[in-house]
Amino acid sequence: MCGIVGYIGIEPAVPVLMAGLEKLEYRGYDSAGISVCTDGIYTVKTKGGLSDLAKKIEQVTLPEATLGIGHTRWATHGVPSDVNSHPHVSQDGKISLVHNGIIENYLELKAELTEKGYRFLSETDTEIAAQLFASLYDGDMVATLRRMLQKIRGAYAFGIICSDHPDCLLAVRKDSPLLVGLGKNENFIASDIPALLEHTRDYYLLEDNEIVLLKQDGASVFDLEGRPVQKEVFHVTWDFSAAQKEGYDYFMMKEIMEQPRALLKTISPRMTQNGISLDGIGLTEEMISSLRRIHIVACGSAWHAGVVGRYVIEKLTRIPVEVDIASEFRYREPIFGENELCIIISQSGETADTLAALREAKRNGVRVLSIVNVVGSSIARESDDVLYTWAGPEIAVATTKGYTTQLAVLYLIALYFAKAKGTLSAQEEQTYLQELEKMPAKTESFLKNCGFLKGLAKQYAKREDFFIIGRGIDYAAAMESSLKLKEISYIHSEAYAAGELKHGTISLIEEGTPVIAIATQESLFEKLLSNIKEVKARGAKVIAIAKEGNRAIEDVADEVIYIPEAPDLLTASYNVLPMQVFAYHVAVARGCNVDKPRNLAKSVTVE
Ligand code: AGP
Repeated sequence: MCGIVGYIGIEPAVPVLMAGLEKLEYRGYDSAGISVCTDGIYTVKTKGGLSDLAKKIEQVTLPEATLGIGHTRWATHGVPSDVNSHPHVSQDGKISLVHNGIIENYLELKAELTEKGYRFLSETDTEIAAQLFASLYDGDMVATLRRMLQKIRGAYAFGIICSDHPDCLLAVRKDSPLLVGLGKNENFIASDIPALLEHTRDYYLLEDNEIVLLKQDGASVFDLEGRPVQKEVFHVTWDFSAAQKEGYDYFMMKEIMEQPRALLKTISPRMTQNGISLDGIGLTEEMISSLRRIHIVACGSAWHAGVVGRYVIEKLTRIPVEVDIASEFRYREPIFGENELCIIISQSGETADTLAALREAKRNGVRVLSIVNVVGSSIARESDDVLYTWAGPEIAVATTKGYTTQLAVLYLIALYFAKAKGTLSAQEEQTYLQELEKMPAKTESFLKNCGFLKGLAKQYAKREDFFIIGRGIDYAAAMESSLKLKEISYIHSEAYAAGELKHGTISLIEEGTPVIAIATQESLFEKLLSNIKEVKARGAKVIAIAKEGNRAIEDVADEVIYIPEAPDLLTASYNVLPMQVFAYHVAVARGCNVDKPRNLAKSVTVE
C-alpha cells in the first residue's frame, strides 16, 4: 500500500527521499513522486517505478532543498497516472501533501471547494486534502491541520509541507501507519521502519490523531486540541541486515530460509520446565476454562493460519472456534456472547479490515488476543493481549515466515488452553511439546534438501491452471499453497476440499491438468488416495505431498514430495514449505517480480 517518507535536516533531501522510498517499495505501488521546498514547492511525480521517477528528476533542475516529502502510490481513487500520483499541490502552489488511506467524504468536500472556486486536476481523494488545507490555511500549519481534520472522515497518514515554512514538516495519522524518525540535526516521517534505518534507530509511534511538527532540531507532537503530547522514544533492535537481501535474489527466498530461526525465536522462549508460558497475556486459567467460544479473524494468509488454528484449537481444547475473513466479519453482524475470546492474526498489525474487526469485537465487550509480527503496530497496541511472532521484518509481499510463525503461536495457544482446561493428557502434552521443539530443526532440514523443487517448478512453469486438494488441515494448507502460487506467479489455482471436488469442480479436470494433492493426515490418508485416483482417472498429473513414512502414495501419484514426520495437527507447518519453494521457482521461471507482485501491497491499510 502507499508509502510515505518525509525529511527535514541538513542533507540534500532528494537522495534521502529516494532511498527511503526504495525501502518502502515492498509495500506495493504503481506511481511515485517527491516534493521539495526552498523558496517554493518543487514537485516531480510519475506513473511507474522509482527508476522512472529518478529519470524524470534528472531531467529537471531541483533546488538543493533540505526539506521534502515522497510517496509511492497504490491506486485507489483513479488509475495510476502522472496526475493522480502524489504529492498533490494546492492551486496556489503553496501546499504539497502526501497521503496514505482513503478520505471517505471527499466528494462532499470536493463539491464545497468547487463552489469556492477551487479546480481539481486529478481523480484522487488526496488532492481534495491539499486544496482543503490551502483553503483553511491562516499562516499556522498546526492550527490549519487541526481545522482540516475536523472536516475529514476516513483513514489517513498525511505528510505536508508549505512554502511559507521551509523549516517545517507536518504530519498526522489515523488508521494508517506513520512513524517519526528522530535523528541528529535531521528528522523523518515514514510508513515503516526500513525507510528510517539508514539514518536512525530512534522513533516515535504516532497514535491516531496525533499531529507532529518536525523541524531540523526536533519533533513536537500535539493532540487534536493542540495540547503538547509527551512521546516515548522507541529503539529499533533488529539488525539492519534484516532489511537487506544478503546475497539472495529476492527477499522471499531469504525469508523462506529464515523460517527455522524465526520459529526458534517464536517457540523456544515460551517453552519452560512447567510447559508453555505465554508472555504478557492476562487471560487467567479461570477465564480460559470458562471460554464458550473463540472467534479467529484475519485476512489472506493470516486467515489461512486461522483456519489451521481452528482445527488445532477445537481438537485439543474442545472449545468451539469460528474463523472469519476480517472484511466479512463486521458486516455479517456477528453474534457475541459471554465468555468469548477473539483471536486476531496479522503479520503487519496494520491491516485495515483486521483492525476494524478487532474494534468490532472490543465494542461488543469481547477480549482480544492478537498474534502480530510488527511490534507496536496498531493491532498490537489496541489488543488486550499480544503474542508476537518473532519472525523479524518480512519484506516480500508473499508471506512465508510470517505465516509459519503464526501457526507456531496458534499451536502454543492451543496447548496452553488445553492444559488450562484439562483436555489433554500429560503424555499427549509432552509429545506435542517435544514436536514443537523439533520444529525449527525439521524445517531447516527440509529447506536444506529441497533443491529438487527448482527442477519440478521448471517443468510446470508454463501451466496456467492448478488444483490443490486436501482434507482437514491439509485443505487449510491447500488454501495457503494456492495463494502462494497465485500471488507471485500469476498462475490460476484453486484450493479444493478433496472430497468436494466430485460435487461439480471435477468437470474441469482433463488430460494433463496439474493437481497438487496434500496427503499428510493419517486418519484421512486412505480417503485422499481415493480422491487422487478419481482425478488420475480423468487424466490429471498429480504431485503429492506426504509424510516421509507414507510411501504407498507413490503408487498413485506422478511425483511425491515428502515432508518430515509429525503429528497430524502440526503438519500444516511442513506441507506449506514445498509449496513456498515451488511457487517461488515457478514465479522466477516465469520472469515475475517475486517480491513485488503486480497489484499487491504488503500491508493493506485500506478497507
Ligand atoms: C499473503 O502472502 C499476503 N501477503 C496477504 O494475504 C496477507 O497475509 C494479508 O494481507 C494479511 O496481512 P497481515 O497479516 O499483515 O494482516
